[in-house]
This record gives sequence, C-alpha cells and structure tokens, in this order.
Amino acid sequence: MTEAKKKIKLRSAEWFGTQDKNGFMYRSWMKNQGIPDHEFEGKPIIGICNTWSELTPCNAHFRKLAEHVKRGILEAGGYPVEFPVFSNGESNLRPTAMLTRNLASMDVEESIRGNPMDAVVLLVGCDKTTPALLMGAASVDLPTIVVTGGPMLNGKLNGKNIGSGTAVWQLHEQVKAGEISMHDFIAAEAGHSRSAGTCNTMGTASTMACMAESLGTSLPHNAAIPAVDARRYVLAHLSGMRIVEMVWEDLKLSKVLTREAFENAIRTNAAIGGSTNAVIHLKAIAGRIGVPLELEDWTRIGRGTPTLVDLLPSGRFLMEEFYYAGGLPGVLRRLGDNGLLPHKDALTVNGKTIWQNCHDAPIYDEEVIRPIVKPLIADGGICVLRGNLAPRGAVLKPSAATPALMQHRGRAVVFEDFDDYKARIMDPNLEVDASSVLVMKNCGPMGYPGMAEVGNMGLPPKLLAQGIKDMVRISDARMSGTAYGTVVLHVAPEAKAGGPLAVVREGDWIELDCAGNRLHLDISDAELQARLAEWAAKQQPDPADQSGYRQLYVQHVLQADEGCDFDFLRGCRGSAVPRHSH
Ligand code: FES
Ligand code: MG
Repeated sequence: MTEAKKKIKLRSAEWFGTQDKNGFMYRSWMKNQGIPDHEFEGKPIIGICNTWSELTPCNAHFRKLAEHVKRGILEAGGYPVEFPVFSNGESNLRPTAMLTRNLASMDVEESIRGNPMDAVVLLVGCDKTTPALLMGAASVDLPTIVVTGGPMLNGKLNGKNIGSGTAVWQLHEQVKAGEISMHDFIAAEAGHSRSAGTCNTMGTASTMACMAESLGTSLPHNAAIPAVDARRYVLAHLSGMRIVEMVWEDLKLSKVLTREAFENAIRTNAAIGGSTNAVIHLKAIAGRIGVPLELEDWTRIGRGTPTLVDLLPSGRFLMEEFYYAGGLPGVLRRLGDNGLLPHKDALTVNGKTIWQNCHDAPIYDEEVIRPIVKPLIADGGICVLRGNLAPRGAVLKPSAATPALMQHRGRAVVFEDFDDYKARIMDPNLEVDASSVLVMKNCGPMGYPGMAEVGNMGLPPKLLAQGIKDMVRISDARMSGTAYGTVVLHVAPEAKAGGPLAVVREGDWIELDCAGNRLHLDISDAELQARLAEWAAKQQPDPADQSGYRQLYVQHVLQADEGCDFDFLRGCRGSAVPRHSH
C-alpha cells in the first residue's frame, strides 16, 4: 500500500469495515449480489449516479456507459456501485424538466451522503441532468467526476444536416408560413434524432457538457465525443480509473469548483455561443459549493469574448463536427493562446491544470473552431440587462439575436400567460407589426411554474407571411438553448412574484438597449408604483400551489438571478457519515 493510501481513511469503511452487528448487516445484504469478502477489504467504493431512463431518450444508452465506467473502476482497484436517481428528461417531462431539477438534486445529494461511497461518477446528458447532479454532488463534496453521454450524430433531412431542436423551430415556422407541408414536417422526425445521445446543437445539453469540462469536472474531450463513438466508452473507462485515484488523492469537488473555475466556464460559454440556461445553472451550482457569482460576472468576464465555435443555433455546424474539429480542448487552447482563458492554473479532475490539459490541443477545422481574428460573433457572451422592467436582471444572447433589434423601442403587445399567447397569436386581427415588442407574463419560476422554455415565442403568422423573421420578445421564461431570436429572458423579479413585468400594458413603450445593458418600461415611477399596488390587491392564491411538490417548489424557489435553486438547498452540507440505521 502506498503512503497516500495509508493516510486516507475510507468513508465506506464506516459501513463495511467493522466486525460487529452493523458491519454484518451492511455487508450481508450487499452479498446477496454475489460480492465476495475481499471486495469489502479497503477498496474505494465508487458510486455511479445514473440518470438512465427510457423516458429520457437522451440518456437511454447509459446502462452501457455505466458498464464501461465500472470496468475502469475495477481495473484501478475500486468497487463500483451503480444507483439510479430521478432522471429529468427535457423532451417528455411536463410542464418542464426545470420544475424537477431541484428535486433531482435533492435525490442526488441524499443518495450520495446516506450511502457507502468514497467518491461518485455522475452520468449526465440531457439538459437538466447535468446541473441537477452537479448541484447535489456539490452539496456533499466527495471526489466527483462527470461523464456525459455525448451528443447524437448529425440530424439528416433530404440529404442535408439538421440540428436538434433548432430544426423543429425552423420547420414549424415554415409550416406556419406555408413554405412546407405538414407531411414533410412530420417526415422530418426520424432524421432529426437518428442515434443515441443528447441534442447535437449547441443547446443546453451541449452547453452544460462544455461547462462541466471547462469547470474541470470531467476529463478532456468529455463534452463533444458523439454518444455512439467508441471513444466515448474509452473516456468512460478512463474516468472510472481516474475516480479511484481521486479517492487516494482526496481530490474533492470543492478543490475543482473554485471561483476561478466558474470564471473559466463563463468565458468558455461566450466562446462556444452557449445557452442562456447556463446563467441559471452555473449560479445554482456555485451556490451549492459556496462560490459567489453575480449576474454582472457574465458581463465582466463573458462580454467582449469572441464566439469561436460555429455551431447551430448561432452558427452552422453540429456537435459531431465540433468533436472532429478538436472539441473543447481546441477552444480552450485558442482562448489561452490569446490571453482569454482567465485562469490557466485552475485544477481539473485529472490532477492537472486546465492549461496542462489543453495547451497543445490541435484544431483540425478552422471553419468549426474559428480563428480569433475571424470569429462567428466578435462580441459573444450573454447580455445582462437591468432597468425598471427588470430590477433584478434579465438576459439576452447576442449571438442568437438580430443586431439591428438589439437597440429597439417599440410598443408592447401583451400576453398574460402562455395560454393567452397561444390563444391569440394566430389571430389575423392581432394588432401587431414588426416593430412591436411581444411581452409574455407568468412564465417564470413560480408563474409557470418551473420557468418553462417558452420565451422564444413564435412570431404572428401574418408577420411570418410578410417575411418577418425576428422581433423583440420579453418574458420571465427561459428559452431552449437550441432556439434563437432577439429574446429577452429571465426577467426578474418575475410577474408572479410582483415584478414590474406583471403590470406592462398593451401599447406601453419599451426600450431595449443591449449596448447600455438596459431594459426600460417607459412610464413614470409613480405610474409604475400605482399599477403594482393595484396588481397586488387583486392576487389570489392558486389552489394548484397549495399541496404536493408544487407547493414546496413555489414556496421555496429563488428567482432567476439566484439560479432558481430552493432557498433551503444552498450551501454544502458535507459528507459526514450519518448515524447508523439500526
Ligand atoms: Fe435531451 Fe436536448 S432533449 S438533450
Ligand atoms: Mg434543451
């Protein structure tokens, strides 16, 4: 046994390491799985936290992924124990997978802390599974490594590439504008999703995979290797080997998830043209590990960074091409070579710094990972907006927006909620023109509830028919990372919480000024206060919020600027072994 091993007292020995009634009970029941005595003698027990589910199609290949992680763990002298947690899949779960992100994180946290494990491998993929598992694991702080399931192969339609999600929004607008038939629209389904894996655009799943890698919580290349590429399984195997070493090195998650790591991730998000959802998820993860992060950090660190990765929805290519072009290590190298990687010495899970990992990473395709002098967008990042319409902030993704609309003054067309929007948007008599600002209320964390991805409201068909492709849209909702448009999201406080959004009226003038980081409702302060008082007097509790998980959620969810975590879940509660169960 090496010196390092002698110094580490395994947490799992608190279950399996005693010759008494308790040790008997913990070992005996495990032995019903055919585990011989020697497996309990001083080997690190590695949890494999699996979000496999056939209802989360993006993670449906995870049992095979887990098998490869297990091989690595066994090879390195650990013992793997796979366990399921709540799998919040983006495509099926209603009303939105965001509603249950925090629920999943609680499941993860309690599963890790309450069980005999010395470290954990997080198997993540679909959008919310990545933040949920990192949030839960951060609140425990064992050695932790992320293994992502990988993106789907390129979608194909009529011989051309199509991107997950982005193609749906585009095809749907083409149907509404009468450019394609409903038959063609439905026929595109199978080619859209033709292999295992997550959305192949730079949507939220790919963004969060890149965030996990830039935070240092995964091995290099974890973000982009396609789900069905054999090298994905090699990475899983190597991650299994590495997590055993991390136990002996006592390399806990808090040593990786530092303020410096988050700054690297924010810069990376700008370089990849990442999803606005990352703003919420990184804040929530940082909150669990005790790292302060503010909305303005996205302006300070992210703005001005060129978007180098030419992927849909902002650009042209897909994750498959991104991997072949050099993947995230190529992007990190390009940032670092140009003085744009804020913290080259940030530690990663393989025990090396992020710069040691990527300083010589090759780039094979300069169309996909652009040169710094030929970026996709010169000034990428997330635009943080404030003003009397969003006192606690709102965000817009410039790389998905129309530049001419990023300074805009227009009259509000107001939808009280998503149902009101759906009921009226098709109406040919809707009073709206291309200069109008579409405003939707009550789609925030408490209002929807769960802050659904409905912020990229489809345009009125009569304007689509005129060839209008984009308009300013404002809401307290989120937007899918695969979506695009001049869309102001995450308005905080949300309408349901009494934010000024609640009292916007039809015909009000609204000013959007991205250069000035400003979102302004053009009414006097006195008028705003009077409207808010009138609004507050009319509020009634919603019976649907009075019981069940929804009650817990609505009572405790924080606003978007605070990451939509539950107030009582913030912070790290550590990995102290709970008292015996018998
Ligand atoms: Fe799962 Fe997009 S729906 S990754
Ligand atoms: Mg998504």
